[in-house]
Amino acid sequence: TPPEAIRNFCIIAHIDHGKSTLADRMLQMTGVVDDRAMRAQYLDRMDIERERGITIKSQAVRMPWELEGAPVVLNMIDTPGHVDFTYEVSRSLAACEGAVLLVDAAQGIEAQTLANLYLAMENELTVIPVLNKIDLPAAQPEKYAEELAGLIGCEPDDCFRVSGKTGVGVEPLLDAIVRQVPAPTGDADAPARAMIFDSVYDTYRGVVTYVRVVDGNLNPRERIVMMSTKATHELLEIGVISPEPVPGKGLGVGEVGYLITGVKDVRQSRVGDTVTNLAKPASAPLGGYRDPKPMVFSGLFPLDGSDYPDLREALDKLKLNDAALVYEPETSVALGFGFRCGFLGLLHLEIVRERLEREFGLELISTQPNVVYDVTMDDGTEIVVTNPSEFPGGKVAEVREPKVRATILAPSEYIGAIMELCQGKRGTLLGMDYLSAERVEMRYTLPLAEVVFDFFDQLKSRTRGYASLDYEPDGDQVADLVKVDILLQGETVDAFSAIVHKDKAYGYGVMMAGKLKELIPRQQFEVPIQAAVGARVIARENIRAIRKDVLAKCYGGDISRKRKLLEKQKAGKKRMKNIGSVEVPPEAFIAALTSD
Ligand code: GTP
Repeated sequence: TPPEAIRNFCIIAHIDHGKSTLADRMLQMTGVVDDRAMRAQYLDRMDIERERGITIKSQAVRMPWELEGAPVVLNMIDTPGHVDFTYEVSRSLAACEGAVLLVDAAQGIEAQTLANLYLAMENELTVIPVLNKIDLPAAQPEKYAEELAGLIGCEPDDCFRVSGKTGVGVEPLLDAIVRQVPAPTGDADAPARAMIFDSVYDTYRGVVTYVRVVDGNLNPRERIVMMSTKATHELLEIGVISPEPVPGKGLGVGEVGYLITGVKDVRQSRVGDTVTNLAKPASAPLGGYRDPKPMVFSGLFPLDGSDYPDLREALDKLKLNDAALVYEPETSVALGFGFRCGFLGLLHLEIVRERLEREFGLELISTQPNVVYDVTMDDGTEIVVTNPSEFPGGKVAEVREPKVRATILAPSEYIGAIMELCQGKRGTLLGMDYLSAERVEMRYTLPLAEVVFDFFDQLKSRTRGYASLDYEPDGDQVADLVKVDILLQGETVDAFSAIVHKDKAYGYGVMMAGKLKELIPRQQFEVPIQAAVGARVIARENIRAIRKDVLAKCYGGDISRKRKLLEKQKAGKKRMKNIGSVEVPPEAFIAALTSD
């Protein structure tokens, strides 16, 4: 297809504003999926995605369309819909010339609408404003057209009004995409340069890589080079998705499709990387490549210690399809053998955990998620801490923690509540704008550690669910942080060590000591629970002693009954975890880690 007849676009929206439904309708109207084969949310392939209604992996579908008798090819590129995947979203947008900005006509603009719009603007995309769900009785298209027009600087009448559900307005929207989105431009005679915007592991075919060709062309059987790693591969297959993979004779300037090289690990085909031709290589890669960087770490432990090898195997498998997942073995006094895992963010963590439990049948305990700290010691040594229990004691000169830029959207009556929350979370207000008389956008920098803790839940509860939040990494900052250890009879329980701001150390210590006092059964002797910063104890509770005599109730006689009871007690002991001489049922640790 000549570039003049191609339009590459994506749909960007806040979660639940109807992106998948509109995409389905487009597939149907362009005849790519017939009505009978149409299953809801065709583009979301993974079960978890469908159940959670979120899109994790982007894909691209080629749709034939006609405008005034002239055939065109529309490439619709799907974008992941959550903050954890901002980098992947930005690469998907970079593969497009236009974006449909979809807003629920009953909800209006939300935080992700803005975050996505900013990303689209950074990538210089043509933005088409669209109000969706106009079939809803609660829809207020006039009101939100004003808001949307004010935001992107157009007339309210320029906003399209559609319903992905009924199909109203979708055909004119497809026409508008052809009219308004620029055709791709590139140098057909230059050495090939194609950008990878997604890469998915398929059990049968190995890694399937989605690319957008910028210059030159890629053809079957050629040898290609991944420019970030210099690795070379043979192009076993190249084609387009419509809606199933269709192998073809190659891809030229502006085209979007997939390629297969036989590699088995998505790390060999990285999002953002540039693919070129070995025989005639490009001199420089396309801009914007970044290594995926885990932001949040958590220990994952099997509930049953004998599942450890299965957990390792499951992680090895998941990794094939997840370039951002990292892990290494970890041993915990309290929780046994497991893995310290790194994730892009909380949602990523949850998804991985859920897949491990669901697809691999594992039962897991995860420790409180933490961020990565850069520690400089007095002697100048630099240490990267991904596990709070490994935070160095002694001569720490400086600790740096990651921060994020957060965008919060909410009805203006909640400004006070949001400010209070953000202040308590060590946030700094960057600015505030009214989108309309009753809706406000607030921008903050916040430590990622505070956001990871329970920020979103608190934001939702303080605004009755009306606030929406989006954030992106924004470098790091020096902070006054300390490690709080929890000790049982003088022994540190590693799983409960936490790095917190100096002012919050006391609160954390009191809370954890109190929690454990409730959860750990009484022992034969008194057990002190302490919270300490270094050698300094900041909180203390005592578990009082009891004398547990199982034989007390059996007066004399029945020796077999006595033996049974003693055996039962022994079995009970075996399951206990020993911290020093204190016996703790594993459930106590689990409860302390999960309850709030
Ligand atoms: P994520 O993938 O989670 O970001 O969601 P999405 O933006 O893809 O939204 P999705 O298409 O899953 O739609 C969210 C909900 O809105 C679903 O319950 C849809 O049935 C409903 N919905 C989507 N479009 C329309 C519409 O035009 N009218 C009505 N009434 N409901 C719609």
